[in-house]
Amino acid sequence: MGCAISGLAAKAEFGETTTEDAAAAAAAASPSEDQIQMIKESWKVIRDDIAKVGIIMFVRLFETHPECKDVFFLFRGVEDLERLRTSRELRAHGLRVMSFIEKSVARLDQLERLEALALELGKSHYHYNAPPKYYSYVGAEFICAVRPILKENWTSELEEAWKTLFQFVTGLMKRGYEEESNRRHLATSPKERPDKRNTAL
Ligand code: HEM
Repeated sequence: MGCAISGLAAKAEFGETTTEDAAAAAAAASPSEDQIQMIKESWKVIRDDIAKVGIIMFVRLFETHPECKDVFFLFRGVEDLERLRTSRELRAHGLRVMSFIEKSVARLDQLERLEALALELGKSHYHYNAPPKYYSYVGAEFICAVRPILKENWTSELEEAWKTLFQFVTGLMKRGYEEESNRRHLATSPKERPDKRNTAL
């Protein structure tokens, strides 16, 4: 499962953020023109394996951060992560997340649409009880999962480009989550907070 991401201290770049740096993350820069081209080119290869990448990504996430499993009703008690590799539910969930990444790549030329999409996703994650401190882990696991697929075409520039995209998207998700949380707390007391149950899980 080892996958070292160059120059990436889990906490500093993809790891848990504090409330103070949540605002900074929310303002993360969008990928540059060169980075957009690199991401699009590499996506043409990655997309052939999206189901596989989705599964690897989440199994790795649960291995490195077992606390994330608790957010998913179905995976909460699962200790045998090998069993999850063949789980239909995990495959479906991985595909949902990968489809979002596909949409993000497709909207790289219309950043305002990507922003709106990621903000909305953050709002839904508030209702899934999936807190922002976990979002940034996903980018690191995505990179570890796709690096072997790209083989010699993986470069440090490409890694930087994908990191930038994930930081951009997860920063917006965090902002969406905060906005929804503030809105709900203004509107209702915590006890009244309706729980949007995980659709499939
Ligand atoms: C880059 C980070 C992430 C992305 C892009 C992402 C994307 C998605 C997408 C596209 C969905 C489908 C439903 C919807 O569109 O609202 C979803 C659902 C969900 N996500 Fe995430 N997610 C991320 C991180 C996380 C993390 C870290 C957790 C938990 C630790 C999590 C927990 C959930 C749960 C519980 C659901 C509902 C169940 C389901 O629909 O499968 N997500 N996520």
